[in-house]
Amino acid sequence: MTKRVAILISGGGSNMIRLVESMTGDHPARCVLVASNDPAAAGLARAAAMGIPTAAVDHRAYKGDRPAFEAALQSEIDKAAPDILCLAGFMRVLTAGFVQPWEGRMLNIHPSLLPKYKGLHTHARALEAGDPEAGCTVHLVTPALDDGPILGQARVPVQPGDTESSLAARVLEQEHRLYPMVLERFARGDRERIDL
Ligand code: GRF
Repeated sequence: MTKRVAILISGGGSNMIRLVESMTGDHPARCVLVASNDPAAAGLARAAAMGIPTAAVDHRAYKGDRPAFEAALQSEIDKAAPDILCLAGFMRVLTAGFVQPWEGRMLNIHPSLLPKYKGLHTHARALEAGDPEAGCTVHLVTPALDDGPILGQARVPVQPGDTESSLAARVLEQEHRLYPMVLERFARGDRERIDL
């Protein structure tokens, strides 16, 4: 039975595009919704251009009332009745109230080799620390930020002269490889970890 996947984005959606493009042929899943907290997110137009239904719930309209924003977002998601939720460049922190009903069915990609560098500015922190390598992680989402069981990781070397943007670009390339591989395996019910 084909799994229904909803993808949450906040910006350009480059990871979302790779995920949507991967769900073809005998892939066990199909994307049924792309939703964003920003009605102007460029990824929404890109999703629509690929024929994917979209929705936007502007978090700014719920200033300070995070549960109300999450309830509005959840009701948009419910309309598509997804089995799996993928966060892909989604930049809002989600409360336990939103996450708990999705535990075990919600994935996120984070641009560091977790458990290192949870939170923001991951590439700057890796450069600052003089790390010889960096990378990205796909993990199951739990109420604790960037903390759930790891489903896959991809590693890249940090090169002399790297800037935050050159490292981010190298990591992003690997994100685009890793996330579709993890989602396909996950949608088949396989939780075995992928390391690239
Ligand atoms: C990427 O670095 C991703 O790791 C982070 O958000 C950034 C933009 O992602 N979560 P996308 O291009 O919007 O998919």
